[in-house]
Amino acid sequence: MALETRRLGRTGSEVTILGYGAMELRGQPRGPAIRDEDAGRILNAVLDGGIDLIDTSIDYGRSEELIGRYLSGRRDEYFLASKCGCPRSSLPGDPVPAPHDYRPSNVRAGVEQSLRRLRTDRLDLVQVHMSPSRAQLEADGTVGTLEDLRDEGKLRFIGMSGTLPNLPDHLAMGVFDVLQIPYSLVQRDHEDLITQAAEQGAGTLIRGGAARGAPAEDKDWQRGPIGVDVEVARGRWEQAGAEELLDGMSRMELVIRFTLSHPGLSSAIVGTASFEHLTQNLAIAEKGPLPADLYELAKERFPGPEHREEHLEEHRAEHREESGRTT
Ligand SMILES: NC(=O)c1ccc[n+]([C@@H]2O[C@H](COP(=O)([O-])OP(=O)(O)OC[C@H]3O[C@@H](n4cnc5c(N)ncnc54)[C@H](OP(=O)(O)O)[C@@H]3O)[C@@H](O)[C@H]2O)c1
Repeated sequence: MALETRRLGRTGSEVTILGYGAMELRGQPRGPAIRDEDAGRILNAVLDGGIDLIDTSIDYGRSEELIGRYLSGRRDEYFLASKCGCPRSSLPGDPVPAPHDYRPSNVRAGVEQSLRRLRTDRLDLVQVHMSPSRAQLEADGTVGTLEDLRDEGKLRFIGMSGTLPNLPDHLAMGVFDVLQIPYSLVQRDHEDLITQAAEQGAGTLIRGGAARGAPAEDKDWQRGPIGVDVEVARGRWEQAGAEELLDGMSRMELVIRFTLSHPGLSSAIVGTASFEHLTQNLAIAEKGPLPADLYELAKERFPGPEHREEHLEEHRAEHREESGRTT
């Protein structure tokens, strides 16, 4: 069975509702140990399984390099998204990383480095990483730099990896073709902002859509999604009585199909360094969104976006965590 596809907003590209997030291929110490050949096997299995969208970043250690090495020969088979504003020397083992820098010289040099590492002449999407404020973006002329790079043919579309508190301002700017936003049943803070982005005609890439595997039998809440304390996420799962909703599904099936049920979603970029989990996730995504009544029931039981003011501090902590790049 083929994966459903959706239009990635005004990019006009049709993409599979399950994408691949390549952060897990970053290498140690920030990611799991993975041999190059195994990363190559997973990346090829991503495309063989029918996924046609891959998300990476300068910040993800060896991820870009591995995609270039193992998939550049299949470049026409996938929509390739990377990020900008990242410090350029972010290979594993680097000392304390520099802060993100959204000024023209760093953005341009970063995009050019991504093209070299990914062994391609064009990035389909470059997303501003780490949700900087509108004031910062305007002071640094970041969007103008990306538009210049687009006019030079180095990238096709401009995106933002955005979260609260700055995401509403990003939407108001109206310049981003695609927004990358976190969402899952234990992290619904941005649910209505995803709807707004889609209504504006932007594509939406959902990250954290597998809740980082936290409820899965093999992980069993050893860590939570980025931006939510693991005990808070677990409490939401237990208070919702999520086990009663399973009705024969695995926990990951409930989690991933809940994410896929958001009507504003273009693609959920689920990450994995495991061939077995990739196979499971493909089979889950082929089933598509949850039945409408189950999606509604789950939304009644898990705390919705109306609680997000309580979580603003968690989003700030996420930014601190990511800029220290401990994830
Ligand atoms: N600020 C940003 O722009 C930003 C931040 C974070 C992430 N991202 C992007 O979004 C992608 C996904 O984000 P994420 O890693 O936060 O969230 P995610 O996709 O919800 O979680 C990925 C984690 O879930 C586990 N997992 C996946 N499928 C599983 C399964 N079937 N059973 C058990 N565990 C499973 C994976 O572990 P295993 O390897 O064990 O399968 C992995 O550690 C990243 O790869 C990256 O491309 C962007």
